[in-house]
Formats: sequence, structure tokens, C-alpha cells
Amino acid sequence: MKTELREVKMDVSEIKETEPLLSIQDLHVWYELRRFGFGHAGYVKAVDGVSFDLEEGETVAVVGESGCGKSSLMKTILGLNIPTSGEVTFDGDHLSELKGDGIRHYRFKVGYVQQDPYGALPPFMNVQRILEEPLLISGMKDKEERLARIHKVMTEVKMHPVDDFLQKFPHMLSGGQQQRVVIARAMLREPKLIVADEPVSMLDASVRVEILKLLRALQQSHGLSVIYITHDLSTVKYFSKRIFVMYAGNLIEKADTRRLLDNPLHPYTHALLAATSDPDAHNADTFKEVPPGEPPSLVNPPTGCRFHPRCPHFMAGLCDVKFPPDFEPEPEHFVACWLYDNNRVERSDERSSRSEDEARV
Ligand SMILES: Nc1ncnc2c1ncn2[C@@H]1O[C@H](COP(=O)(O)OP(=O)(O)OP(=O)(O)O)[C@@H](O)[C@H]1O
Ligand code: SF4
Ligand SMILES: [Mg+2]
Repeated sequence: MKTELREVKMDVSEIKETEPLLSIQDLHVWYELRRFGFGHAGYVKAVDGVSFDLEEGETVAVVGESGCGKSSLMKTILGLNIPTSGEVTFDGDHLSELKGDGIRHYRFKVGYVQQDPYGALPPFMNVQRILEEPLLISGMKDKEERLARIHKVMTEVKMHPVDDFLQKFPHMLSGGQQQRVVIARAMLREPKLIVADEPVSMLDASVRVEILKLLRALQQSHGLSVIYITHDLSTVKYFSKRIFVMYAGNLIEKADTRRLLDNPLHPYTHALLAATSDPDAHNADTFKEVPPGEPPSLVNPPTGCRFHPRCPHFMAGLCDVKFPPDFEPEPEHFVACWLYDNNRVERSDERSSRSEDEARV
């Protein structure tokens, strides 16, 4: 009897340990298009069947060209977009079931670092007010406590002496300093997850690396999970453990960062890597070609594999007909491309040995 009880206890703790912090299941985010503001004219399928898990303390980068759905995915995780279908589960809570206070507390646990720091900061508030506001909303009534918290995060984002910055308005700060205030605001309520949507793309090359290093230091010292959105693969090495490559609303390749950079599998990832520049200003002249062709329409995406009109390995009758599922040619390296379908290779081997036999007869 005692043995049975011990066995049950072990099972429960094992389940708890493997529960991800964030789980996205078959997420679709479609925006409705209306003709002259009335009649239905289709949908922009910005996110179209995305699934992944994120562990506590894990960092992932979502990379892809402009318009592929990165921000739509993130806004849905932040609770700013309502998904058309699918499920977002965070820390054991289904986002779709949260209401009122539940949503408020969820927002405390997820910090948001926007692309445009100037647009993200209210121009009529000074830094102190900008940072006090979220603390007031979260119920921190004591002014001393609020100021102590603000000093702590401002020191963490390396804006010192803190008092010199508190009375400044956003227009009095440089782009890099504005982004540090945005990061401080995201850290105020001790989040478990930071969503950073192109946090350095609007900054000078000289401060990009500094901001990425700051995010990395905060991630490590607080054990944060981070989702880092970018269209530039060269910056992901700064802090992502895994990379998800997004194309036209789908995640088409998912792997450990080193593995994906050393051995990219999807033809689109190859094109993206070829187009990669280095964020280091010294290497600014290493810009290469962008992936050939235009990103597809998300209203009427191409049939089958959405990359097929641009793909150098396109196989007529397959790639333009059937949507490729995720294949796993090496452990934990997923790729949605028919080139990695072992059954297809076996079938074509069978076909060629049949035709060789027929030729011999
Ligand atoms: N609120 C909206 N209503 C209608 N369409 C939208 C809306 N928001 C985004 N879209 C469309 O959804 C698609 C994906 O947009 P999204 O902003 O998610 O892409 P992105 O990958 O973040 O692009 P970028 O790199 O330029 O920021 C685009 O075609 C965009 O025009
Ligand atoms: S599925 Fe076909 S078209 Fe799509 S990336 Fe692979 S080879 Fe290219
Ligand atoms: Mg975006």
C-alpha cells in the first residue's frame, strides 16, 4: 500500500516539472476584411495554425520577413488580439477563460517591449509618471514603495543617476534611453515572460548590441522567459536558445539556435540566412541579397506549401497541392518541407527501382 502511494506522488511531480510556462496550440488569428466597411471581403490570415511550447526561463526568437504575422502572434500572446481559434495557455491558465482581474494579473506576468520606443511612451508624461502608472494600476498604493521599485528597475536598465532621468519627458531622451525606459516599464511588475517585438530595429546600429545585451542580462538575472521577434537572424545569437522561422502565418522551421544556424533545412531559412547582415556597425557593408520574390498574400495564400512560388526546390504536383506537415529529420529540429519526407524518398526510390526493372524486362 505504502509503495503505491509513493508511486502516485512521483508521477505528479514529474507532470508538474514538464508543464511549459506558455503553450500555444493550433493558433489562428484572422482579420476580417470588409468591403466599404460593410460586406465581408475575406480574411487576412496573419497567424494560421501555429503551435509551440515555451519552458520557464527559456528564450526563443521568432524570425521572418515583414508582414509574416510575427506581431499578430505576439499581440495574441499578450491578450491584445482575440484569436480566431486555438488556445494560449500561460502558467496553467487558459487565456480565453480569463476575465477582469484574471486578465489584469496575466498582464503583470507578461512584459511587453515594443518596436518603437518613442511611440510606446506617452509624450506628455515624465519618466517617473510613466513608471508609476502601472504600479498604481496594479494596486501599489504606497508612494515610497513605488519609488523604491522604480529606482530598482531604473538601476537594472542602467539609467543612473536615476534621479536625473525621472523628471525628463520622452523627447528629452535618446532612442536607446527611451528603449531602456520601455524595458524598465516591462520589468516593473516582475514578469515571468518578456515579449520583445523588434526591440532594436528602430535604434542606431551603435546602441542595438547594448540593448540586446541588457535584455540578455535581465533574462539571466531574473530567470525570465523571452520571446524575441525580429526579421534579422544575425541578432538572435545574443540570447535565444531556440529559433522559430515564420513564413506567411506558419512556423516553418523550429530548432535549437546553434543547430538551425549551422544546419538550416528549409529553403526559406537558407534564403533568410543569405540575406542576413551583422548588427555590429563594423560589418555594416556585409548586406546580402534579400530572399527572391515577394512575400505572398495572406488573404489568398498559395496552395500547398506557401513558399512554393519562390522555392528553388519546388516539386510540381506535391508542393503546390499538399500543405507540408512538420518533419523531424534530426532530434528536436522540425521543418515543414516535403524535401524531408522520408516516405516521399522511399516512394520515389520504389518508383525508380520499378522503372529500372521494367527497363530490364
Ligand atoms: N488589425 C489588423 N487588421 C487587419 N490586418 C492586419 C491587422 N494587423 C495586421 N494585419 C495584417 O496582418 C499581416 C501580418 O501583420 P503583422 O503586423 O503581424 O506582421 P509582422 O510580421 O509583425 O510584420 P513587420 O515585420 O512589418 O512588423 C499583414 O498583412 C498586416 O497587414
Ligand atoms: S515544400 Fe516544396 S516548395 Fe515548400 S519549401 Fe519544401 S521543397 Fe520548397
Ligand atoms: Mg511586427
